[in-house]
Amino acid sequence: MGTEKESKSNFFGIHTKKKDYIIRRCTTDDLEGVIEVNERELPEDYPYFFYKSILDNYSDSFLVACERDNLEKIIGYVMWRIERTPSINSLKLVNKGHLVSIAVSEAWRRKGIATALLKKSMPEIKKQDISEYVLEVRVSNYPAINLYKRLGYKIQTIKKAYYRDGENAYYMVRKTKI
Ligand code: ACO
Ligand code: ZN
Repeated sequence: MGTEKESKSNFFGIHTKKKDYIIRRCTTDDLEGVIEVNERELPEDYPYFFYKSILDNYSDSFLVACERDNLEKIIGYVMWRIERTPSINSLKLVNKGHLVSIAVSEAWRRKGIATALLKKSMPEIKKQDISEYVLEVRVSNYPAINLYKRLGYKIQTIKKAYYRDGENAYYMVRKTKI
């Protein structure tokens, strides 16, 4: 912190901090780095073809955070998919934006990276004509639950034994129109 690269003094000697990461769309070359972050930070692992199919189908909302000084170094990611489900009060199918996974490398947390990843990806998945954003999160995952609440998500139900180890999930929802 406080190195020349990270902050610039203006005329009055006030430091305006430049962000040391950037957010951009994921590419096939990034998938290895994305998988590395996922395997380090989350117990839910997916096979390569799963990431690849999300990238092939929902590339606009598949974003990565990388180091400003090393754009190939992946330090966080977010990925979404669309799910079509019957709406509660009719037989009509409605689209929902489903947050598949988000993670930020431990050393880079509490800098607003996950917030930035979500704020930039949500308008992209919203273009698929969705009625709401949905996600599951471990009931013990306070950091993530806090993050989602700050962005307007509310707990709708509990999914019992949703995870392989038996832990419950909160099903959290945010309407696209609020
Ligand atoms: N404790 C309490 N609140 C927290 C914490 C924490 N450890 N971390 C984040 N928050 C809340 C705070 O309100 C925070 O705002 P503040 O820093 O101003 O207080 C707000 O969330 C935003 O934090 P960010 O800096 O944007 O979040 P960060 O970049 O640190 O990433 C994340 C948060 C993704 C949950 C990170 O901790 C992580 O990668 N965890 C492991 C992976 C994980 O659990 N992913 C979510 C699984 S659920 C799913 O993917 C659908
Ligand atoms: Zn899910």
